[in-house]
Amino acid sequence: MNMTASNSILIVDDTPNNIKILLDVLNNVGYEVSVAKSGEIALEKLPFIQPDLILLDVMMPGIDGFETCRCLKADENTKNIPVIFMTALSDSVNKLAGLRMGAVDYITKPIEIEEVLARINIQLKLKNTQQALINEIEERRQTEAKLKEALLDLRHTQTQLVQAEKMSSLGRLVAGIAHEINNPISFIYGNLRHTHQYAQELIELLQLYQRKFPTSDSEIQAKSEEADLEFMLNDFPKLLASMKVGIERIREIVLSLRVFSRLDEAGLKEVDIHQGLDSTLTLLEHRLKANSQASNIEVIKDYGNLPLVECYAGQLNQVFMNILNNAIDALLEEPQKQAIPTIRISTRVTDDQHISIRIKDNGAGITVDIIQQIFDPFFTTKPVGVGTGMGLAISYQIVVERHQGILECRSRPGEGTEFLIQIPLNQKPIQSLTQLNIESQKAMGELIVSEPV
Ligand SMILES: Nc1ncnc2c1ncn2[C@@H]1O[C@H](COP(=O)(O)OP(=O)(O)OP(=O)(O)O)[C@@H](O)[C@H]1O
Ligand SMILES: [Mg+2]
Repeated sequence: MNMTASNSILIVDDTPNNIKILLDVLNNVGYEVSVAKSGEIALEKLPFIQPDLILLDVMMPGIDGFETCRCLKADENTKNIPVIFMTALSDSVNKLAGLRMGAVDYITKPIEIEEVLARINIQLKLKNTQQALINEIEERRQTEAKLKEALLDLRHTQTQLVQAEKMSSLGRLVAGIAHEINNPISFIYGNLRHTHQYAQELIELLQLYQRKFPTSDSEIQAKSEEADLEFMLNDFPKLLASMKVGIERIREIVLSLRVFSRLDEAGLKEVDIHQGLDSTLTLLEHRLKANSQASNIEVIKDYGNLPLVECYAGQLNQVFMNILNNAIDALLEEPQKQAIPTIRISTRVTDDQHISIRIKDNGAGITVDIIQQIFDPFFTTKPVGVGTGMGLAISYQIVVERHQGILECRSRPGEGTEFLIQIPLNQKPIQSLTQLNIESQKAMGELIVSEPV
């Protein structure tokens, strides 16, 4: 805090006698005094001397005291310097006008030394107190701002940890279930081929019997009719074929779940980004298909020729999931406005070091006032219980902090929204992490991977 006592005074007066008296007295009591012989000179000097108080004669040739005061008060740098006017008893000045202009006091000439000193003293004390108060307020404001920042940081870290923990358990659960389902599905899938082959042969055998022994046995006849043998023989292969399609679909979903959660792969891995995008799309297929409330959402894959990318694949898949889910939300929100609701996913190698993934929808877009806030934790425009407002905050952390990448959003109302993810092909080790960050990074690492990072 600046507690230096104020002790510099500027005298502005055109009468040498007055100047001399004031100069002697004020110097004697220890003030630092400077002098200007006119309003013009005072205004010229002020940027260089910054006095703590000004004694200003009202009646002066050139610009008078009132005009000088008006100029002082209009300038940011000098407006807070207290001004005491000096007037002769005989001067018929409007004292009130001077006070309204910002002066703090009046001294009457001829000068009474004791009075001058007392008035100067009061004003300088007031100024010191005022300055101390201003300093204290500023200090409090700064402390408050720091506290707010710390609280925000704390809330942010806490949110990340809670979310990481939630995702970690969810990821394990999903991967565990996918693994459990995988075995029985494999039995069914593996045996379906044999079932199909056996059924085919049994049917052929039955048909051979029918040809070789066209029986008139009434019991066989009755049973054949009861079972609708002809229909059964025709329908059975079709039934098996559709079971095969169903099982293949289940296998695809289970595989996508495993690729998506990547629990079986620890830490940084070189992965095929397109596989991650495709597995995410498979898991979202139920939201992309037409139903009674919404039409089909078309997905255009504009995939470039990407090399394998070193990344935390499971986490990156969560980013795809969050952004794609948001795009679907936007397209379902105002389905009537666009001709064909479309999501376009483009991937490219941007330079030798980075790849970009753009996910663009032709939904309603985001307004200017909202776009600033979309990456803030808990910011959501969705109804309570629908959105938590964490999807993009977590995505930002994963892309920017975890992968040293870029996550940007470009959007205009009515023109849809595009998210750009850019990450390096290879991850450099991060040098300067605080312990807290390391902890949260570890927690995020456990989100998908089973080994500590
Ligand atoms: N593609 C988009 N089109 C329009 N608005 C979007 C889009 N993506 C994000 N937003 C806006 O950004 C906000 C924040 O998104 P974010 O994913 O962080 O949270 P959320 O989707 O509301 O909730 P959740 O935590 O369930 O994801 C959304 O509520 C929405 O207003
Ligand atoms: Mg979201």
